[in-house]
Amino acid sequence: MQEVIKTRSFLDSLNEIIKKNDYCKIFFFTGSIGHKILKASDYDKNSNYFIYSDFKNDPSLDDVYKAVKILSNFEPDLVIGIGGGSTIDIAKQVNCLSSNYNIDKISKDLLAKHIIDKDLLFQKNPPPMIAIPTTAGTGSEATQFSVIYINKVKYSIDNKCLLPKQIILDPQLLVDIEPGLIATTIMDALSQSIESLWSIKSNNESTEYATHALLIIKKNIKKIAKGYPDIDTIQELMDAAHLAGKAINITRTTAPHALSYPLSMHLKIPHGHAVALTLPNFFIINSSIENSKINDSRGKAYIKERMEYIFELFLEKGATAKQCRNEFYNLMKILNLETDLNKLRIKEIGVRIILDDINQDRLANNPVSISDEDINKILTITS
Ligand SMILES: [Fe+2]
Repeated sequence: MQEVIKTRSFLDSLNEIIKKNDYCKIFFFTGSIGHKILKASDYDKNSNYFIYSDFKNDPSLDDVYKAVKILSNFEPDLVIGIGGGSTIDIAKQVNCLSSNYNIDKISKDLLAKHIIDKDLLFQKNPPPMIAIPTTAGTGSEATQFSVIYINKVKYSIDNKCLLPKQIILDPQLLVDIEPGLIATTIMDALSQSIESLWSIKSNNESTEYATHALLIIKKNIKKIAKGYPDIDTIQELMDAAHLAGKAINITRTTAPHALSYPLSMHLKIPHGHAVALTLPNFFIINSSIENSKINDSRGKAYIKERMEYIFELFLEKGATAKQCRNEFYNLMKILNLETDLNKLRIKEIGVRIILDDINQDRLANNPVSISDEDINKILTITS
């Protein structure tokens, strides 16, 4: 069970945990915000603390392999990830890989093979990890999986040892974030809550988390468009993103996420924006079940009822798939997010390359089976 600490001063909470548990060798993965704060607080002057930021967004095999080597040599008794989804993702996987693989004895190619074949062995528990998100979006702090790119293709490492032991949620960490980043990350959280609700793995617990997340985001999302939100709104959005993370930790994501990875990789579209670009079409596809092959063993009547529940939550009772699609695009426009894939260089790259790199695991999680023809249509006819 994860412990969630809500605070307005993450450094005080962190120092308290470090003192209480007598942690003495601490490895920090940080993005730019965390790095600035740790430096300002002189953490970089303590030789028992290692502050590491040498990795890119959407971590690659090279980033991970290098970090495993450095972390293994340092031998920390606590690992901390302070940053957005990529930072927390790399911290989770590097921590577990370091405890279970001797990096001097495993080549980068062999590690890649284990990740691709999904046969990594995690027999030892890693040092405890604390996740401190600096965005309200991915919910990575609440999931036991982590993204890694190998030759520009997205893979997921999925094991319960990746789940951070403690989470510190501090809205003050978001006060310097640019409004555009809030918009893309919150679209990720919104999409994750919707996808979790229609995932074939949804259950009562995930539905409760996702419902709660969706309602909080719906209440607050338009405030982002009116300028920088107040701290209480940020706190609520952080809570919603965390709940959406808990929901997808149970259900995993579905078709819009499956399509988003090649869109992000080839067109350099930020993750939340890439997911949001195709999600509105799935309001329609996932509710057009009469002539579709379905993936959810609970059957067509269940999917129909579930989609109506989502429409009611997202818009209002009796709302149609088309109305929800339009409202979703409308939200994107309010948040200044481009909705037309044609304006995002899709023609230059070509639909074929996107089709080839779609994540099949996530696609299989969608309630309705999606063909190449469906995807082709989604990618060529957008709003
Ligand atoms: Fe996501």
